[in-house]
Amino acid sequence: MESPFKVDVLKGKVALLTGGGSGIGFEISTQFGRHGAAVAIMGRRRHVLDDAVSALRSQGIQAIGVEGDVRKQEDAARVVETVFKQFGRLDILVNGAAGNFLVSPEDLSPNGFRTVLDIDSVGTYTMSHEALKYLKKGAPGKEQSTGGLILNISATLHYTAAWYQIHVSAAKAAVDSLTRSLALEWGTDYDIRVNGIAPGPIEGTPGNRKLVPEEMKSKTREFMPLFKLGDKWDVAMAALYLASDAGKYVNGTTVVVDGGLWLSRPRHIPKEEVNNFLVLWRRSQEHLLPAFHQANYDLISLKPHDIVFTAITITIYYAIQQKKKRDLFSTQCFFSDD
Ligand SMILES: NC(=O)c1ccc[n+]([C@@H]2O[C@H](COP(=O)([O-])OP(=O)(O)OC[C@H]3O[C@@H](n4cnc5c(N)ncnc54)[C@H](OP(=O)(O)O)[C@@H]3O)[C@@H](O)[C@H]2O)c1
Repeated sequence: MESPFKVDVLKGKVALLTGGGSGIGFEISTQFGRHGAAVAIMGRRRHVLDDAVSALRSQGIQAIGVEGDVRKQEDAARVVETVFKQFGRLDILVNGAAGNFLVSPEDLSPNGFRTVLDIDSVGTYTMSHEALKYLKKGAPGKEQSTGGLILNISATLHYTAAWYQIHVSAAKAAVDSLTRSLALEWGTDYDIRVNGIAPGPIEGTPGNRKLVPEEMKSKTREFMPLFKLGDKWDVAMAALYLASDAGKYVNGTTVVVDGGLWLSRPRHIPKEEVNNFLVLWRRSQEHLLPAFHQANYDLISLKPHDIVFTAITITIYYAIQQKKKRDLFSTQCFFSDD
């Protein structure tokens, strides 16, 4: 879909995106680039960065890929330094890197819990901390009175609660909290705006392709408030709004881009339904199981979309079961009335 923004809204800006080589992060990188920004993408896998950079450059976008782990402060400092050396300034930091896996609290080791918080929450803080010296007003390459922007990608899971997602919910709640605190502290002292985006289920991400069982895909839209899933483009347009002058007075806000889904989630899904779903899910995803089991102990083998889409799929599965029960009930009523 064509962007409603002018192609030069980010002209002259330099953006660094953690997790910018894949999924939603890559779409934000692309849209930032198409609207005039030079982009640097950060992640752990070299080949993912290389492919993404080639794709960006093929569209005429100035792009570099810098390998690094957001959990390591020395990596964060090195990546920020590399971006400054390459482009001479830094205007926008997007914290999109995240890691998740599906697990009950009983089975989640404290180490697994800590790992997700380390990437999502501490990683967001570490990157912001290291980028401060180039984002603040008067920093090298920046004007005396104008600071930059930090954009934190979270989720909506922690607005309520969901089975098997205690680590993700805690991590994203902390990210939203960082958004508000840094907006106050660094908005006041350094003219840095700090905002967030909380996506719902986004079509075209690997999670959607891999983890929603085929038999549920055709039903998915029926249970969304707007009868459609979101696109990566939707998230990227929200990012563009916040990064451009259109969002110049927006600070400390997390924009929800989920079509209203979290408002309409069932308040309580029985655990048996989740377990029924898991049986179905595991059958359809047998090739992923070794990674799934290992993930609890071995950092992140599954990706953030895995957990998000599993949550959505559980909700949809439950809604389908409820609908079947309602249909059966109304059929029974019909016959008894008759
Ligand atoms: N997909 C959705 O529907 C959805 C919904 C709600 C929220 N979100 C959020 O949106 C963001 C993007 O999600 P996505 O689904 O598009 O996932 P994705 O494509 O798997 O993106 C995750 C990215 O983070 C990078 N990453 C992970 N751990 C890292 C680390 N320690 N250091 C540096 N980079 C790291 C990954 O690259 P490497 O593995 O190479 O490091 C990858 O590029 C995430 O914050 C996610 O929680 C997504």
